[in-house]
Amino acid sequence: MSDAIDEILDAVAATAPEVRDGLAGRRVYESGENPSGEQQLEADVYADELLEERLLDIDAVGSYASEERDDVVEDDPDAEYHVAADPLDGSSNLKSNNTMGTLFGVYESPLPASGRDLVASGFVLYGPITTMVVARDGGVTEAVLEDDGTRQVVDEDLSLPEEPTVYGFGGRVPQWTDDFAGYVDEVEDELKLRYGGAMIGDVNQVLTYGGIFGYPGLEGRPEGKLRLLFEGHPIAYVVESAGGASSNGERSLLDCEPDGLHQRTPLFVGDDGYIDRLEDALGE
Ligand code: AHG
Ligand code: MN
Ligand code: MN
Repeated sequence: MSDAIDEILDAVAATAPEVRDGLAGRRVYESGENPSGEQQLEADVYADELLEERLLDIDAVGSYASEERDDVVEDDPDAEYHVAADPLDGSSNLKSNNTMGTLFGVYESPLPASGRDLVASGFVLYGPITTMVVARDGGVTEAVLEDDGTRQVVDEDLSLPEEPTVYGFGGRVPQWTDDFAGYVDEVEDELKLRYGGAMIGDVNQVLTYGGIFGYPGLEGRPEGKLRLLFEGHPIAYVVESAGGASSNGERSLLDCEPDGLHQRTPLFVGDDGYIDRLEDALGE
């Protein structure tokens, strides 16, 4: 039996082929910046406008927010769900023709909300093939997205491999804190480096091969780069539902409530053993 969350997932799946088809001709920067002060590609704005239109068309969706917009777009404050999206994650990879994705979280409270208010989240990965990973009801599925927007499930129960293999950490190494750099010295002796510049692509490596991904707080930028509502919460919900863990350096990202819509956060997701060691290292 299909429910309102299925309607939201189907809308994202149906929009993804149009986003992908629209990438080739939208590799130039717009004149404006997003609310995080970052340059916007035409593709960022295009994906954002498609998602806003399709998601707000759903009766059960009362509002839409994205990293590309200053404010929440409110449609029906009494509706059941509220969707936050990173319409194109890793959009700087478009010029170099590398992986990127669409990331979303479905909240049962108005935005900004706590990660514990998520009822579903997921991402579309524009890789050699287009796939969609969805977390809901404590489980994670992976599907191949067809050109007509239909989903062919290829993994009913996606879970993090027991054996961690890869790691990827963002930010400039000279700006890493000493505690974090000391932790990475251990990790790089144990795992293989995989860092592609799009969180969704890098996290999908972790979901596939096991390990840890992060974008730490930096010297002079303790909040790091990634946004709690649009990147931290939805990706943490996926990885925790897949048997992994998440952290802002101290606690699960799902236990972090943003003060503002675009609040940034240090972000780590992956193998629970590595997350525990990270929190010990940063808590020293
Ligand atoms: P977005 O394109 O949505 O702003 O996301 C980019 C983010 C994230 O995808 C990635 O992990 C990180 O920026 C890469 O940052 P660096 O370019 O500093 O490595
Ligand atoms: Mn992003
Ligand atoms: Mn983005």
